[in-house]
Amino acid sequence: MKTLQTKFCNVTFPSPLISVSGIVTSPQANAVLAKEKGIGAITWKSVSLRERKSHPVPVVVPYSSGYINSVGLQNPGLEQAAKDILHIKKQIRVPLIISIVAFQISEFYPLALGVAKTRPDFIEINLSCPNVDDEAGKPFGTDLLMTTLAIQEVKRAAGDIPVIAKLTPNVVDITEFARAAEEAGADAISAINTSGPGLLIDVSKRKPKLGHKIGGISGKAIKPLALRCVYEIAKTVNIPIIGIGGVSTGEDAIEMIMVGATLVGVGSAIFGVGNSIFPKIAQQMQDIMEKHHIRDLKSIKKCID
Ligand SMILES: Cc1cc2nc3c(=O)[nH]c(=O)nc-3n(C[C@H](O)[C@H](O)[C@H](O)COP(=O)(O)O)c2cc1C
Repeated sequence: MKTLQTKFCNVTFPSPLISVSGIVTSPQANAVLAKEKGIGAITWKSVSLRERKSHPVPVVVPYSSGYINSVGLQNPGLEQAAKDILHIKKQIRVPLIISIVAFQISEFYPLALGVAKTRPDFIEINLSCPNVDDEAGKPFGTDLLMTTLAIQEVKRAAGDIPVIAKLTPNVVDITEFARAAEEAGADAISAINTSGPGLLIDVSKRKPKLGHKIGGISGKAIKPLALRCVYEIAKTVNIPIIGIGGVSTGEDAIEMIMVGATLVGVGSAIFGVGNSIFPKIAQQMQDIMEKHHIRDLKSIKKCID
């Protein structure tokens, strides 16, 4: 049996397959997910400084090519999240990535400091959130200066905990943002967050399918976009990458590694299949490796010119 064990930022992961932020949300459900065969790490739902309520339902809608969501970054806020993280950490044996999200640059330092006190293995910055100080409310991740400042603030608070910058695909040139993240001190990059936003209409009701009308697109529809982004980022920076977007099979995961990802995130596919998507993808990866005489994952990483 081929090993899927993977090193990422000097941390050993039993498998490159990790859960992405926001799909499995309750702390206890994450503890259960962490026991699944084939899973390499858990990413926590993004934590903000204060509690956030969900947007009007429905907040997640499937369609023929994936999903559209407008959850609205619902979470209990730092104080409760820190208690939950400490509780769950004792129960899980795989690395834990805590995702954080802020609405002003000044929130990043206290938020990251609070999360760092729970000693996660990584802190991931969700840069796809609108900056309320910006007149247009542009997401931090679509502005190079804001991306730099957010990462610098989190790095200042994180101490020796590695920091991952999660990039949005909703920019003209993602390599500029990857380079800015590396220069600002990010230890790794994850890409991509949802694309869009998009809109779906319920013809019989003559209204949008999502309660919030518009939302981020995920799942199969965004796989080619994610592969292109990871490919370009891998050519630009020297820090490792978590490839995310539309992965639901072993072949998808191998494609992500071939374009330059070290770890591979699985999100929307959990909705369709449940937690057993992890052993399923892991087995498919091992079968592909056997069939194509792939010695180990390192030997196929970034093999596409
Ligand atoms: C319902 C839902 C909630 C999400 N919540 C978050 C979140 O809180 N933080 C974050 O960084 N990304 C969030 N995402 C984005 C995912 O982590 C991931 O980047 C995206 O869905 C693409 O991966 P996929 O195609 O495998 O789902 C969310 C996605 C969905 C579908």
